[in-house]
Amino acid sequence: MTAATQSPLVLTVVIPTFNERDNISVLIDRVAAALASVAWQAIVVDDNSPDGTAAVVKAKSRLDSRILCLHRIGRRGLAGAVLEGIMASSAPYIAVIDADLQHDAALLPKMLSVIRTHDADLVIGSRYLGVDGLVTGLSPLRKVVSGLANAMARHVLKAKVSDPVSGFFMIRREVVERVAPKLSRQGFKILFDIIASQPRPLAIVEVPYAFGERAFGVSKLDRRVMVEYAGLILTKASGNLIPPRALMFGLVGASGLVVHLGVLGWMLRLGVVFWAAQTTAAVVAMTSNYLINNAVTYRDRRLRGWKLLSGYARFFALCSVGLVANVAVGNLVHGFTGVAWVAGGAGAMFGAIWNYVSTSLAVW
Ligand code: GDD
Ligand code: MN
Repeated sequence: MTAATQSPLVLTVVIPTFNERDNISVLIDRVAAALASVAWQAIVVDDNSPDGTAAVVKAKSRLDSRILCLHRIGRRGLAGAVLEGIMASSAPYIAVIDADLQHDAALLPKMLSVIRTHDADLVIGSRYLGVDGLVTGLSPLRKVVSGLANAMARHVLKAKVSDPVSGFFMIRREVVERVAPKLSRQGFKILFDIIASQPRPLAIVEVPYAFGERAFGVSKLDRRVMVEYAGLILTKASGNLIPPRALMFGLVGASGLVVHLGVLGWMLRLGVVFWAAQTTAAVVAMTSNYLINNAVTYRDRRLRGWKLLSGYARFFALCSVGLVANVAVGNLVHGFTGVAWVAGGAGAMFGAIWNYVSTSLAVW
């Protein structure tokens, strides 16, 4: 039997990075200083940052084997990075902290003692707990959006968590492992997802901290991330009935209606006869739906080159079938109820579901 050469690992600190060359060293030093009396390890998950963050981490790792660089190639995404870092750990406790110094590493020992002594599953560093004016690192717009998202999330989670999208938390490893296959690897809402996916409620403790300004570099949380988050909340609110992709597909479909009416009106004004204008409008709307779905809804499986063209043909064919089904169902329901809007709605709904299901199987 081989004896352990050091005291058993207690805490893994997972640090996701994308272009954090100028921040990561300082953060690791702060983590090390804060955890002087703890058997810790840091796993930096870097998505091959163009600024060379991984090289900086590996240079430190050579001198201190408690530091590890998980250098991912050809992949992006905060949630996925955090999840992989957690899954690489064997420690009983895992902390997740941003690299940009917006989170206070000095809080780690306190979080650890809370998770141990309170017998909690999860300790969240909260930006919104207690003292007002603690948040200085958010723009006014981000503050409003963040507050709204939090209110919705609290409702969905049925848990009193003041900051359910915090990127700063400590958790028992098995709590993540048991739901890992269910978690989304896109976006910024991994904590929310972990809480929402649990079979039974977690024991959660929140500790306040001051969310600081980013040290160097820029935030990667953009509008797309916010849209994704809204999608996840709506999905959970529907009891997991409507997947985020279907919601996105529906939104794109709605945008197609706007395009259709716009083109139709424009061509009629140009004096084009109705059937020709209506046909052109339908083709333009279908094309714009296809391109937007390809770029946004199926971003992760985006078709390019020849595949983009053959996918377009399939999309077109399937949506044409959807249109026929739409009219057929509409007629049928109209025959039963005689109420035009119910019949029209039922037809449109059926067509939309057909379009979503068939194209998700045969196009992307
Ligand atoms: N590996 C990897 N891959 N890391 C990433 C990626 C990615 O695609 N995108 C961002 N990161 C890293 C950043 O380098 C940083 O260390 C951390 O994740 C947070 O990213 P920021 O871009 O600084 O996010 P933020 O400050 O705008 O957002 C903060 O608040 C959100 C809630 O409003 C973060 O704490 C988020 O986690 C949190 O959800
Ligand atoms: Mn940040």
